[in-house]
Amino acid sequence: MIKKIITIFGSTGNLMYKKLFPALDALIKKGLINQDVKILCIARKDCTLEDYVEEAKKEVKENLDWDSIIPYLTYIKMDLFEMTDYIMLKDMIHAEGKDLDVMFYLAVPPTLFEPIAKGLSISKIMTKAQENRRILFEKPFGSDFEDAKHINQTLQELFDEKQIYRIDHYLGKEMIQNIFIMRFANSLFKHQWDNKRIKSITVLAKESETVMMRGGYYDGVGALKDMVQSHLLQMVSLITMNQPIENKSSAIKDSKVDILNKVEFDLNSSIFGQYDGYLDESGIQKDSNTETFVFLKAHINHKNWKGVPIYFLTGKKLNEKRSEIIIEFESDDINQKGWEFNNLDYNQLIIRIAPEEGVTLKMNVKTPGLNASIIPAELTYCHACQSVGNTPEAYEKLLLDLLNKDDTLYTRWDEIVASWQTIAKLKDKSHELVNYQSFEELKQLILETHVDVYKNI
Ligand SMILES: NC(=O)c1ccc[n+]([C@@H]2O[C@H](COP(=O)([O-])OP(=O)(O)OC[C@H]3O[C@@H](n4cnc5c(N)ncnc54)[C@H](OP(=O)(O)O)[C@@H]3O)[C@@H](O)[C@H]2O)c1
Repeated sequence: MIKKIITIFGSTGNLMYKKLFPALDALIKKGLINQDVKILCIARKDCTLEDYVEEAKKEVKENLDWDSIIPYLTYIKMDLFEMTDYIMLKDMIHAEGKDLDVMFYLAVPPTLFEPIAKGLSISKIMTKAQENRRILFEKPFGSDFEDAKHINQTLQELFDEKQIYRIDHYLGKEMIQNIFIMRFANSLFKHQWDNKRIKSITVLAKESETVMMRGGYYDGVGALKDMVQSHLLQMVSLITMNQPIENKSSAIKDSKVDILNKVEFDLNSSIFGQYDGYLDESGIQKDSNTETFVFLKAHINHKNWKGVPIYFLTGKKLNEKRSEIIIEFESDDINQKGWEFNNLDYNQLIIRIAPEEGVTLKMNVKTPGLNASIIPAELTYCHACQSVGNTPEAYEKLLLDLLNKDDTLYTRWDEIVASWQTIAKLKDKSHELVNYQSFEELKQLILETHVDVYKNI
């Protein structure tokens, strides 16, 4: 049996405590991680496994079954700039046997991607020729296109593209995976999916939280690079891509890249904002002009999408946590040939990604009773209600796919190139920053300047 080793660099970080431990716990409980798996937790702190676990128990908010997790764990202290430490790691891995499948998860700041990749390659822990070695990177993939290109060049010199897994954890979310099924497994939507039927598309990712303890990372990155470059553009590509020629990872990515290359932002329709009090947060430069909110209008240079505005909205310290995709349908040819309806609303399909997962279809119906006036009605599907217990978290699915060498939900390099190039034009333009205290101020501004935008933003 092949032994699988998940090696996590940055095991004392927020990502490990907030996402990876809960995901590992869930996979162990479901029997999807079992005795053939070992987890090497790497960090720079000098401590025993017992100390490390005690610290993790304090940091992890969820109630995990630590007694089941601990047997899988080994704690390793490493200096990531010291070659002898990589040799030590290699010896430890090789001591596990000959038939090994080894994954290296870089849960560290992007500045460490290159030194770790080089350390793994020079020490020959991982080389291009080894099929059973994979390396994983978290977003952001670089700080801009040039930086991303530089990191990628280094990686491609050291490793084969098949060994490189780039995580955009939004792609692991249940309802994001559901977009594909909803679009292509339902003839109801499949044949209504173009500019003849769709009036507008809105992609929302609203957060109520501030930057909290992540100011050091967030400042200098901002909402555009943190959210639009990755999650929001990925959502738009899944919603608007042509049906892939087959249900395979490479074909899906080809369709996504084709659309990503055709997204164009309307430079004059953007609103950038910064919440009041941002400059007083820990880790933020006192004169920072980093945006914590962005609203954008785009269109897709493709005959199917000509004339359809695509709205992007994301930000911190807003009135709620809500991530949704709203598709508004046209209603222009309903009133004809003697048929007149009043009070018609646009049909809307709302894909709810977080915090609730589900779908709502808004339609027009007759009011109950003796008169025939029209009211809006909602058909609602609750995704979480279908499952016993919680639906899997994004990282659970992504870790499982990693173990199974399935890279469908990971992003390919050309998707990242297209996303960076799309937002580069916006970043070149200097933007006035709107200072906001509440989302209501931003909403008013958006609705005043964009009359056709979906009203319930
Ligand atoms: N947190 C999230 O929810 C989230 C979501 C999406 C993507 N990401 C990405 O995931 C990665 C990790 O994020 P994070 O939030 O976990 O960051 P973090 O809390 O800052 O932790 C990063 C880890 O890297 C280690 N580290 C930092 N500088 C180091 C150095 N110079 N030498 C050795 N180790 C060093 C830290 O060790 P010490 O404990 O010793 O400092 C810690 O274990 C980043 O690329 C981030 O952008 C995070």
